[in-house]
Amino acid sequence: MRAVPVSKHVTWVGAVDWNLRDFHGFDTPRGSTYNAYLVQGADKVALIDTVKAQFVPELLSRIAEVLDPARIDLIVVNHIEPDHNSGLRDVMEACPNARVVASGSGVRGIAEYHDGLVVEAVGAADVIDLGGVTLDFLPAPMVHWPDSMFTYCPEDAVLMCNDAYGQHLASAERFADEVGVDLALDELKTYYSYILLPFGAQIAKTLEKLAAAGWAPTTIAPSHGVIWRGETVGRALAAYEQWGSGELRDKVVVAYSTMWGSTDALALTISDALVEAGLDVQVYDLEVASYSGLMAEMLDAKGLLVGSPTLHHGMLSRVAGFLQSLGGLLPKGRVGSAFGSFGWSSGATKQITDRLTEIGVEVVQDPYTQKFRPTEAELAAAREWAIAFAEKVKTAEA
Ligand code: FEO
Repeated sequence: MRAVPVSKHVTWVGAVDWNLRDFHGFDTPRGSTYNAYLVQGADKVALIDTVKAQFVPELLSRIAEVLDPARIDLIVVNHIEPDHNSGLRDVMEACPNARVVASGSGVRGIAEYHDGLVVEAVGAADVIDLGGVTLDFLPAPMVHWPDSMFTYCPEDAVLMCNDAYGQHLASAERFADEVGVDLALDELKTYYSYILLPFGAQIAKTLEKLAAAGWAPTTIAPSHGVIWRGETVGRALAAYEQWGSGELRDKVVVAYSTMWGSTDALALTISDALVEAGLDVQVYDLEVASYSGLMAEMLDAKGLLVGSPTLHHGMLSRVAGFLQSLGGLLPKGRVGSAFGSFGWSSGATKQITDRLTEIGVEVVQDPYTQKFRPTEAELAAAREWAIAFAEKVKTAEA
């Protein structure tokens, strides 16, 4: 795969990680990319972002298709998370003449990650002139880490915004319109939900600052996945605006695991009842479901029901793992409850209820707890329980 022109002065020179299947605990069934961009002015060349260390040879060979890496004058580190920054030292060796810049927080993080490596800080007041082509900077704290920064090339109206607007999507194509905008938006949603969901307010603030700075990108070039250009830019911006608004719908995610089928029977009965009560419902068996798809559904779901049978007086470990992941991501405003079966000792539904409360879900109904296999009469009781929960979802303030 060759270096790909993005605009008159900007060229994609990143790396494609076709085989990535796990990104710090979240599944990435379509792999990912670590995008980096060359920006060429009349006098100077800048490299925006580097890549994960093992992909540095791929990055350098792609740069070499355009120019000798030793000609690079400037390396901009938009974000210090190792998927972008772990290759920095190796890239610097190949670019011995480059000055390296990052946000203030990025400078401190680079020193910590790279054993005292000293680089320069840039901020919103700085402009770096490459010779008729300039780079502007905007600190974007918590989009995704405190150090995150956006870089903008106003002459080409290209925004290089690192994790923002990214997707874990490996492909031979570089643009959203090439892979298909629906696929790109799907992956954008999944990425947002498990990387950026807790930071909706910070994202909104950064986008306000971006507009106030007069940046009006016609191309959004993130550091993961495909690039947004043309009409796809508006689609990506609108999607972030919608998700950032935190708007919730009358929708319930039912996430559960089962041991011998009783909790599964409850989950399906409860889900059917919720549908009949007029709610949008998404059902996930945690033994087989991907967390990433599930988190994407939680973006706009007002309700959450979590089910587990009891094992050793508590919930199954995969249910506990799900709640642990959820706890780190989920903003407030959701209502929930628990359900599950037990054989000789109960405990799972109480433990789930306690954990839901700890992570900020408002538990609006006592759990539904079932001994052994549910009879028809007990399934009817579970239905009634679900209908009562549906009413609480409908009346909960979003
Ligand atoms: Fe793609 Fe927060 O790193």
